[in-house]
Amino acid sequence: MAMDGGIDIGDELVDDGTNFIGIVPTFITPNYLTLFRLYEKIELAGEKGVYRFRCLFKDTTSIPDTTLVRMLSAWDCLYIHKQDMGGYDRYLKENLHIILASEGIEIDKRAMLFTEICFEMIQGVMKNNFGLPKPGAETYGKLKALMSEAIGGVSELNFLKGLATLIGHDYESCTHSIRVGWLMAIFVNANPDLFGVSGKSGLEKLVVEVAVMGFLHDIGKSKIPSHIINKKGRLSNTEYVAIQAHTAYSVGLLFDLNLPKHVMEGILYHHENEDGSGYPCGLKGKEIPLFAKLCHIADVFDALALSSELPYKTAKTPYQSLVIMAGKNPNLDVLQQMEKEVSEPSDTPVVHGAENEENSDIKRLEYELRMNREAQKRVEVRMRLRDKGMAHCFDTELLKRFVMTLNRSRSFELSTLFFKN
Ligand SMILES: [Fe+2]
Ligand SMILES: [Fe+2]
Repeated sequence: MAMDGGIDIGDELVDDGTNFIGIVPTFITPNYLTLFRLYEKIELAGEKGVYRFRCLFKDTTSIPDTTLVRMLSAWDCLYIHKQDMGGYDRYLKENLHIILASEGIEIDKRAMLFTEICFEMIQGVMKNNFGLPKPGAETYGKLKALMSEAIGGVSELNFLKGLATLIGHDYESCTHSIRVGWLMAIFVNANPDLFGVSGKSGLEKLVVEVAVMGFLHDIGKSKIPSHIINKKGRLSNTEYVAIQAHTAYSVGLLFDLNLPKHVMEGILYHHENEDGSGYPCGLKGKEIPLFAKLCHIADVFDALALSSELPYKTAKTPYQSLVIMAGKNPNLDVLQQMEKEVSEPSDTPVVHGAENEENSDIKRLEYELRMNREAQKRVEVRMRLRDKGMAHCFDTELLKRFVMTLNRSRSFELSTLFFKN
């Protein structure tokens, strides 16, 4: 068996564990076992930090599902080699929302699964988008601890259920939220002076809070019809306005969780722009809470640089994204006019072209078609205009700090924190 990581010794691999991710076997639906292989981990006598990973179930096609489920339940934890992550990712995309909402599985196990997923995803971003080397043992432990604290702290509060709904609705919004939480956490950790926190424990608490804020900021999207959320491109004005409602839905869904006020404010106002052209309230400058400004920066940076599946865009490099975010747009007045129009649900002049048609069905279809074309054109132009510069959206000083933070690879280490590993 040829594997990239670990020492190949036939059906077994010797590894320090960093090439494998742990999963709870009861999460696995047997018919997905063709997508990835499962390994059990065996301690090597006298060798600290090195393990034998033995491949199980080489061919499961002839084993009945009920037998497989019984066999899987014999282990508390099994492992998947990173080389099989493609198949495992597909499995998660199709099943994660069911697993997280499954009351038959203990909440700790569901939280653990979600922690592993967050952790793997962030490691992937560090390597693929920032070219950072594999984290050392200390960073590895702290990053995992941060994720585990952030998720553990809210997992009992129906957080996983809410996330499950969001994932079932829109998997990409969930992965985006995890990355936003992580970006916010590394920013706060690297810039404690901006937040007036004193001492390590105060900083640690705040880092966890902003990670939670990032994880939850778009949870209100679960209330927006999925055909709008997942629509590739053609958003009508009405649909665009519907999407804007997600910030209010997010705080509505989280209202009973007793999250700190700055977390709730950060979530509600994460689409406000510095010049007042954002939503939901059109706040500007100092009116926008600091955490909302930060969430906005992390949110847009992720959408430009780290998400690749959003309509009308392909992912840009972190550098290109920051240039767009910091740049002044020469056509700012056109962009602002467009954003103003798009936030007002009104008909556009284009519909009048269909009015001469006598057949009412054709008239309706033409109307719809023209509306869609108009909306698509608007979104495309808006994105092109945005790409010329978004400086009007952000707090310049905060954005500068964000750029400096990303520029220092040390920032990713979370090295000043004291999380328990
Ligand atoms: Fe959002
Ligand atoms: Fe977002």
